[in-house]
Amino acid sequence: MTINIKQCNHGDLRKLQEICYETFNETFKDQNSPENMNAYLESAFNLKQLEKELSNISSQFFYVYFNNEVAGYLKVNLNDAQSEEMGDESLEIERIYIRNKFQKHGLGKYLLNKAMEIAMECNKKKVWLGVWEKNENAIGFYKKMGFVQTGAHSFYMGDEEQIDFIMTKTLN
Ligand SMILES: CC(C)(COP(=O)(O)OP(=O)(O)OC[C@H]1O[C@@H](n2cnc3c(N)ncnc32)[C@H](O)[C@@H]1OP(=O)(O)O)[C@@H](O)C(=O)NCCC(=O)NCCS
Repeated sequence: MTINIKQCNHGDLRKLQEICYETFNETFKDQNSPENMNAYLESAFNLKQLEKELSNISSQFFYVYFNNEVAGYLKVNLNDAQSEEMGDESLEIERIYIRNKFQKHGLGKYLLNKAMEIAMECNKKKVWLGVWEKNENAIGFYKKMGFVQTGAHSFYMGDEEQIDFIMTKTLN
């Protein structure tokens, strides 16, 4: 088994959109209405939006490959690209998604460690993320990785207001 990581660039736009749609659907479709899912997918992952995010020098996307197949992706934000004003000493993990069939093989941890590595290289003091309060699998994973809940914020899935826990890990 081989695991590799690659930073995404503009050439990855369409493939990136596919994996964003696929993993978001797999994760949330059972707990959300099709209307709210479609509204979110369309606003968050349309090509124009993804292109804008890929062009932002304070954001980075990565694919993780398992035996040469794209198995998931990571998006991290620095500085003003963070979705909350957490300050310049923080790095945000905005998205970390492993396709269903590749979960529980250590790939989520691999991507999370990549985010930690970037944070350390950039002399950040904290890594934070928002996770839906009902996403028990991800919350369990983040706790296992040493994150603790430090707050909460609202998140709109279509027209439904949901609560995201803010979870943080302080770097040594
Ligand atoms: C959450 C997610 C990224 C975790 O990735 P993964 O590849 O399945 O997890 P890993 O195999 O890397 O697990 C790493 C460690 O965490 C543990 N772990 C994984 N899920 C766990 C859970 N739900 N509860 C407790 N521990 C968990 C593993 O046992 C492993 O422990 P080890 O280091 O002692 O072996 C993945 O399940 C996923 O993409 N889920 C769907 C998308 C999602 O919800 N993303 C987050 C949105 S905020």
